[in-house]
Amino acid sequence: METAQHPEPPRVPDDWFVGFHTGLVARFWRAAGATMADRDAAIVASLLDLPAGASVIDVPCADGRIALRLAAAGFAVTGIEIAAEEVEHARALAATAGLDATFLTGDLRDLPDTGAVDALVCWGNSFGYLPHADTVRSLAGMHRQLRPGGRLVLESMTVAESMLTGTIAPHSQIEFGGIVMRRTNRYNAAESRLETEYVFSDESGAVERSHAAHHVYTAAEVARLLTHAGFTELRLLGEDGVEPYALGASRLIVVATA
Ligand SMILES: C[S@@+](CC[C@H](N)C(=O)[O-])C[C@H]1O[C@@H](n2cnc3c(N)ncnc32)[C@H](O)[C@@H]1O
Repeated sequence: METAQHPEPPRVPDDWFVGFHTGLVARFWRAAGATMADRDAAIVASLLDLPAGASVIDVPCADGRIALRLAAAGFAVTGIEIAAEEVEHARALAATAGLDATFLTGDLRDLPDTGAVDALVCWGNSFGYLPHADTVRSLAGMHRQLRPGGRLVLESMTVAESMLTGTIAPHSQIEFGGIVMRRTNRYNAAESRLETEYVFSDESGAVERSHAAHHVYTAAEVARLLTHAGFTELRLLGEDGVEPYALGASRLIVVATA
């Protein structure tokens, strides 16, 4: 008897994030990110625990939703982001708001040398985008960008104790800013990689397809990677940046010292 064949979708490329954050994808995440921006920026600012004027890198900064709020709070902010469209958008928002912030096009895999800063923020579930060797290189780059004693604040929602304790829906749909995102998820256990196919559509009938892969690490693996990169005094916190990180928390926030 013949059985129906369901061919595996092609592997999501390792560099899926190059050219990803544009068009409907960028518009969707700007709208989604805006709903959480004030709370996220307040948590980041409290974890930075630095006086106004301190220098802060926000990478990746997307449209600058965190960077601009930190600039408004008096920090000297440099946002770094791979998507040129987002860098332009963040610069325009800064100009409109009369904020003094610098936005640069750059890659987590090879961070531009901005001179040593007091703190570096990596927020918005961006840890885990890169293949393992690039993650190692990226964390070393973050450590290099910090002055001795400088502070790292890193957040991830795809840490194993957060993501794998819930259900990964094979299909889901969500709407922000009039843009509908349809997701098809597949967990590649052999590579601990959540692979997602996306279809974005808006009211005008525009449709865009893309894909992403998030590499899943346990909290202990994240801590080992940070220690290997040279970070010390690691604090692993949960959703609100106050309570210790625990099994099933919706996200991991790490505060560490360079
Ligand atoms: C979900 S957003 C989060 C951004 C921001 N931290 C926030 O909280 O709003 C992810 C961003 O990471 C950027 N990105 C992805 N891969 C990158 C890389 N290798 N280097 C720099 N930016 C990258 C994307 O273009 C996108 O703007």
